[in-house]
Amino acid sequence: MAHLLVTGAAGFIGSHTVDQLLHAGHTVTGVDNFRTGRRENLTAATTSPRFAFHEADIAAPGVLSSLVGTARPDALIHLAALVSVQESIQDPDLNFRLNVHATHLVAEAARMHRVPRLVFASSAAIYGDAPTQPIREDAPKAPISPYGAAKLASEVLLLGHGATYGITVRCQRYFNVFGPRQDPASPYSGVISIFARRFREGNAVTIHGDGCQTRDFISVHDVARANVLAATAPGLRSGVANICTGHATSLLDVLRVFQAEFPAAAAPVHGPARSGDILHSRGSADEALAALGFAPRVPVAEGLRELIHAR
Ligand code: UD1
Repeated sequence: MAHLLVTGAAGFIGSHTVDQLLHAGHTVTGVDNFRTGRRENLTAATTSPRFAFHEADIAAPGVLSSLVGTARPDALIHLAALVSVQESIQDPDLNFRLNVHATHLVAEAARMHRVPRLVFASSAAIYGDAPTQPIREDAPKAPISPYGAAKLASEVLLLGHGATYGITVRCQRYFNVFGPRQDPASPYSGVISIFARRFREGNAVTIHGDGCQTRDFISVHDVARANVLAATAPGLRSGVANICTGHATSLLDVLRVFQAEFPAAAAPVHGPARSGDILHSRGSADEALAALGFAPRVPVAEGLRELIHAR
């Protein structure tokens, strides 16, 4: 069994990753400053004697180095981030501090304390509006937000550190992740989290455009499992991989599942397409299978029904 240090442990993806690591018998040190993470996401984790938690800001000087020096983990899973694309556009300086500088601090802490493996939360946002589908890892990188640019810069920084100092680095390029604990607070939150809240509260949802836009929606349970594999599978080499299903799901497909579960729901409102929206985004899932042995297991409709009936 391994000891993992997880940054962003109280976040949406972080808390599910922590839960699966503990379930598999590993020991976990979690850190989060609750900027967007939530204490209640760790309700299950905190009952485990193999879980230690630190409330701290990893972007502050010295914090991470001290935590990593004390924990001496077998791998570090770096999920702490400024997670909103919209916020990165409004405050690119904060995006730099939380999504680039903090990653450098992670790389340095791993170097100084000889952590052999790093797993990083990258994003399909590094591809921008990719012309060719499915998007393979070697597709052109053309981010169209400070968030996407920061994720790309972080990959380069980590892989550079990995090659220089002998650290195995796995960059996980998540596509559109959905599931329980995702925050629906802003209009720019993931569409599925917004739909779940509005259907539950009996409010009409808004479809921007004709609803035929597609995304590669992937369940957070699959994403967490991909993180566990990247952090603990023996003999991995450094590299990047899309974490996706390889399938396109339209917004209308998503809507149909909700409507079947809420037959009395108000009809959706159709609004204009969101400016800057891309029409289609679908990843190739081949590299994750080849490099990590990862294949998604949760069909989108099943994941949606689980989310609808959660709690
Ligand atoms: C992602 C970002 C978004 C950013 C965009 C830039 C997330 C969660 N979203 O959006 O902040 O601006 O990249 O390309 O990281 N939709 C509706 N009704 C809603 C909400 C969304 O119809 O109430 C539509 C959107 O217009 C979009 C689709 O649903 O066509 C998916 O939206 P979203 O979940 O935000 O994902 P991305 O479009 O990938």
